[in-house]
Amino acid sequence: MLDDTINSSFVKEPRAMNNHFTYIANWKMNWSFQQTMAFAITHKNALISMSNTHTTIGLAASPLTLQSLAQLYNTTPIKIFAQDSAAQQPGAYTGDVAAAHLAAINCNGSLIGHSERRRYHHETNELVQAKMQQLLACNLLPVICIGETLEQRNKDETLVVLEQQLSNVFSCAAAQSEPTHNIIAYEPVWAIGTGLVPTIEQLIEVFSWLSKACASQPGTWTLLYGGSVTAANASTLKGIDQLGGFLIGGASLDFQEFEKIVKCQIVV
Ligand code: PGA
Repeated sequence: MLDDTINSSFVKEPRAMNNHFTYIANWKMNWSFQQTMAFAITHKNALISMSNTHTTIGLAASPLTLQSLAQLYNTTPIKIFAQDSAAQQPGAYTGDVAAAHLAAINCNGSLIGHSERRRYHHETNELVQAKMQQLLACNLLPVICIGETLEQRNKDETLVVLEQQLSNVFSCAAAQSEPTHNIIAYEPVWAIGTGLVPTIEQLIEVFSWLSKACASQPGTWTLLYGGSVTAANASTLKGIDQLGGFLIGGASLDFQEFEKIVKCQIVV
């Protein structure tokens, strides 16, 4: 069960139904504590003013910074996310960060299953499911990243891969005693940090499929796109009906670029 005070400003329906967008900056391992806080302090008021009933802003930052960010943005609409969280409860797991401990410092949720975690840390769909379970047990919002490699895309396996990745996610959602709110970020591996973006036709195919798949599951689902989102392509991407926002890597490190992505109008 999710605590509504934590998650009330997140979209509980696809964007097409309520015209709400969620923008999560994924700063990855780019910045030190000092660099992160300098950005967060300098742009605090601007980030707050970009948030409104149609716009939710989230920041996914290094674990070193989460407590300070959560304190800085306490009582503001800005949501603070970890970039990963543990598959287990607190205990003897050297180097991991427990969901319960993220909750204790007022984080709102965590990315899980990012392709960089799947690739460099060999994370499996089962592990991502266990992480999701831990987050939901702590009333935190899971942002589950899924996506196919270029090889899988070229072999026409995209939807099969997404279905496999989602199968564990849906099992986890179905196992909850109350319906939960979850975010799925569709990030084709080949689009992350490459400047390549799927065609609108490819995205329409994936997002129509995703929104139908999620509609038959318990809980509410917000669908984000991630992978080389920039100010130049955001307005076109925003035209995709089922899209509920973006997970933004490289472009989120430049405040002006991030602001343009958030503020640009939909072009259809
Ligand atoms: P990118 O990264 O915007 O730099 O492609 C997105 C992500 O990995 O979440």
